Amino acid sequence: MIEELPITSWTGPFDEGVRQRAVTALESGAVLFFPQLPFQVRDEEREFLDTRVSDGRAKNISLDPSTGRLQATALTGEKAQRLAAMIERFGAGAAGLISALLPYRNIERARTSYRPVQVKGRSYSKISDDRLLHVDAFPTRPMHGRRILRFFANVAPPGSPDAGLRRWQVGEPFEDFAGKFLPRVSPHMPGKSWLLGKLGVTRGTRSLYDELMLSLHDAAKLDEDFQKTSPQEAVSFPPGSCWMVFTDQVLHAALGGEFALEQTFHLDIDQMAEPARAPLKVLERLSGRELV
Ligand code: SIN
Ligand code: FE
Repeated sequence: MIEELPITSWTGPFDEGVRQRAVTALESGAVLFFPQLPFQVRDEEREFLDTRVSDGRAKNISLDPSTGRLQATALTGEKAQRLAAMIERFGAGAAGLISALLPYRNIERARTSYRPVQVKGRSYSKISDDRLLHVDAFPTRPMHGRRILRFFANVAPPGSPDAGLRRWQVGEPFEDFAGKFLPRVSPHMPGKSWLLGKLGVTRGTRSLYDELMLSLHDAAKLDEDFQKTSPQEAVSFPPGSCWMVFTDQVLHAALGGEFALEQTFHLDIDQMAEPARAPLKVLERLSGRELV
């Protein structure tokens, strides 16, 4: 479930054995864990290790790398620019590491986020509570089968509660989960996809795949018995470590921690070493129909 890679470089080059291990583990649904790969927050950036940099409303501060636009921060002016520069340095570092470590030639760098707020103790609706096991699926972002790969860094400073650990639960394999839930769910909002796309609520129209993934996301979070009794393992990521995982495939829940950075990547399944492992292919196999 966890594949530990003791690399210390963000740029490589990495030998073929390490690269092979990385892609095999990742695509099989493991979390790739880099215990010796700290993201360095510079001295003059330490002021950003403060929950008050958040606007207090959104869960995350986010940076759109294509426009440089920073959202959901309380900071303005020069401080906001320096925070954006730190988040950008992290995102660019994550992109560099992925191109050195993984065979994917065509990978899209999507949003970068900064998560300064303690996960424990916040209140959310069940559907938006990421402390419940789920696979990622976003109402406003249809993927049409493309993958969601996320790279995280824990940058909690010394003195953070619980030793600054970011605590996750990681659940059972995607196929087991989907096999259980698929017979019980129907596409999220049948018939509405075309309309939502037209109205500009979603970026483009949702496919059947997107509807099913949203339904699986919601059904998992709403099922108390599944949350309590399904096979799962606790994992904790200490300050100074990074990790990477296909969050559309791996059931995950974040139970505690503060000050993390995250870079999202999108990937066509034909880039994968084994496309048959993609959630799209698994769901098509289980349902016996084409979903995009
Ligand atoms: C999530 O992707 O569900 C949350 C992960 C985290 O912030 O640690
Ligand atoms: Fe998630």
